[in-house]
Amino acid sequence: MLYDLIIIGGGPAGYIAAERAGHAGMKTLLIEKKFIGGVCLNEGCIPSKTLLNSAKIYDYARHGEKYGVTTEGAALDHGAVVKRKNKVVKMLVSGITAALKKNGVTVLEAAGVITGRNTEGFNVEAGGETHTGKRLLIATGSNSIIPPIPGAKEGLEKGFVLTNREILDLTEIPNSLAVVGGGVIGLEMASYFNSAGSKVTVIEMLDHIAGNTDIEISKLLMNNYIKKGIDFHLSAKVTEITGDSVVFEKDGAKVNLVCDKVLMSVGRRPATEGLGLESINVETERGHIKTDLTGRTNIPGVYAAGDVNGVYMLAHAAYREAEVCVNNMLGKRDRVRYDSIPAVTYTNPEVGSVGETEESAAAKGIECKVSSISMRYSGRYVAENEGGDGICKVIADKKTNRIIGVHMIGSYPSEIIFGAGMMIEMEMRIEDIKELVFPHPTVSEIIREAIFAFE
Ligand code: NAI
Repeated sequence: MLYDLIIIGGGPAGYIAAERAGHAGMKTLLIEKKFIGGVCLNEGCIPSKTLLNSAKIYDYARHGEKYGVTTEGAALDHGAVVKRKNKVVKMLVSGITAALKKNGVTVLEAAGVITGRNTEGFNVEAGGETHTGKRLLIATGSNSIIPPIPGAKEGLEKGFVLTNREILDLTEIPNSLAVVGGGVIGLEMASYFNSAGSKVTVIEMLDHIAGNTDIEISKLLMNNYIKKGIDFHLSAKVTEITGDSVVFEKDGAKVNLVCDKVLMSVGRRPATEGLGLESINVETERGHIKTDLTGRTNIPGVYAAGDVNGVYMLAHAAYREAEVCVNNMLGKRDRVRYDSIPAVTYTNPEVGSVGETEESAAAKGIECKVSSISMRYSGRYVAENEGGDGICKVIADKKTNRIIGVHMIGSYPSEIIFGAGMMIEMEMRIEDIKELVFPHPTVSEIIREAIFAFE
């Protein structure tokens, strides 16, 4: 069968592209080998947020006395949390399936392999048939990295080592959990399992957690979690995983950390293996498909979006990339602007950031000015956060006064940060934002406060 567009991979990039293309009247085939919604919906963003919400409710219940609320016998029933998580996932997956149907997309549950091209387009083998697409969008996502640490693979096979996939389906809370990698997945899962009662230890190779996050915010987040009982080992190198422990080197000493489970969260790798990219000569670089800002690969008619392009492994970046690809296929000029894509870590407190940090601006030689204020400038924050120590940092280009970065730790940054992204996207200056009205009392007002606090 000949299609206008064949999409391989039904995660956020694939399903959004399919919906948009179908809606625009393109005859679209979406090939997905596992489950519609991909990692994000089935074993990533949504399931983890469901768990984290239960942890937040439990934490409020246990520590309500600060707010004049006493609760006796509060308990977190992990089995019930996982059951609800499965219900949430099922509901959202069926919503996406319905949206695909509504937009006339043909969905094929099979593994797709590119086998070459003919005069009409690109051939993809799936479900025992060859399908041809005038255009091709590769949206196969990424897989967890299992580093070549002795014992890691064996531990995974035995169920001692887990990835983001298995950890979300644990039936019981482990007494102790070692988290290898203090990035987003590691920190969000450390947050849930700490609240749920595990003794959590994070082992991170770098001298700070949370990757490229503003350094001050990264330290604040770590201090919050140290107070909650999580142990951190920074600048630590994991050398071995035995039957019941993680072995790592730190400050020249060897440490043997005995634990019940190990979460391996050291990053993800684009999923390009066995896809048949070589059959049509799609260019890859260190495992990811090379694309430009319009989503085009080196082969005309072949696009890639989402984690597989290795640019910005976030579901919302994938959505935008997918839309940009479809718009360009339809002849509408469009491109992704990566400098205004926000990132959030859904710990408690949450971290939200967009644009340049002081460190990244300095590395690019951008002269900037910074306004950094306590979240306590927000009345709503103080009302809701007894003893909270959050901050908000706004970074502006010194020459133009344009906002180039906003970084927050506290409550609701996940809901506020898009507005900051918009300020960057719209190239707003400090004086432009002074004219905006923020609803009162909200934590979002902190941005206004930070703007007026600029020297
Ligand atoms: P990550 O790249 O965020 O963090 C991995 C961490 O592991 C880094 O800090 C790195 O220094 C450390 N590391 C690497 N090798 C190590 C080793 N051998 N020993 C100790 N530490 C080591 O990767 P993560 O957390 O696995 O997440 C994968 C992807 O999923 C990311 O691209 C992330 O953006 C995305 N994601 C996004 C979420 C969100 O937006 N809230 C939530 C979860 C995942």
